[in-house]
Amino acid sequence: MIRRVLRTVLPPAVRSRAKNVIARARGLTNFYERVYDRQAAMMASDASVGGGDFELMGKIELGLLKLENVKPTDTVVDLGCGTGRLAVQLIPELKGGKYIGIDISRNMLRPHYDLPDASVDVICAFSVFTHMEAEDTYRYFVDSLRVARHGGKLIFSCLPVSLANSRPIFMQQASLDLEQRWAAVRNFVTTEETMETLARWAGWRVVRWYRGDESSVTVPGLAEKQALGQSTCVLQRP
Ligand SMILES: C[S@@+](CC[C@H](N)C(=O)[O-])C[C@H]1O[C@@H](n2cnc3c(N)ncnc32)[C@H](O)[C@@H]1O
Repeated sequence: MIRRVLRTVLPPAVRSRAKNVIARARGLTNFYERVYDRQAAMMASDASVGGGDFELMGKIELGLLKLENVKPTDTVVDLGCGTGRLAVQLIPELKGGKYIGIDISRNMLRPHYDLPDASVDVICAFSVFTHMEAEDTYRYFVDSLRVARHGGKLIFSCLPVSLANSRPIFMQQASLDLEQRWAAVRNFVTTEETMETLARWAGWRVVRWYRGDESSVTVPGLAEKQALGQSTCVLQRP
């Protein structure tokens, strides 16, 4: 009824403002939480955190952290930890260190944002900013800088257009309208330059990239080095 009145009576500019107010009242601030909860409710828990083999992907993520010399005594935040494919691999490696898994989705874990300033050695976010608007990624860059110790790292993955697999992913998203794109967890493709610029704006120093299509990660028990599929960027708090 309200929608019909909005459509018929109000001029377009007022209609769009009114729609915004209604959307905010419905809890737009919890937008990502609702998108992920919807997806988690629809899928098996393993599948809801993304593609790839649960165990192998966790091992590749751990391998990337090892390439960055993550130590057993480190405090590591796994931002967007999902159902714990990295946790399963990383926790046994930490001796005297601490693993903190954070996730926004109620169907996965309760969010936990009250970390003290300069308290964390490594924050990793695998396949998290891949599904976020750039402005939200920037906000996480800012908040991560606050909790990272000086010299601490933020290690995240994303889908730059320089990867061949970004194009079909982009085209699939482009075949949908806006509402369909946000009906489930959506993918954003980006560029290395964009992510680096946002990171610098937030105060990070860019250290290096591991390309998602280059096999640079050693996984115990596998003869060949592995690639994550998404490119991984390493930032350091100056
Ligand atoms: C594609 S999954 C990746 C999970 C995990 N990092 C992995 O590699 O297995 C993305 C995860 O990020 C979480 N997430 C999305 N937005 C988030 C946010 N704003 N804060 C914390 N977690 C978030 C989702 O709930 C989901 O579990």
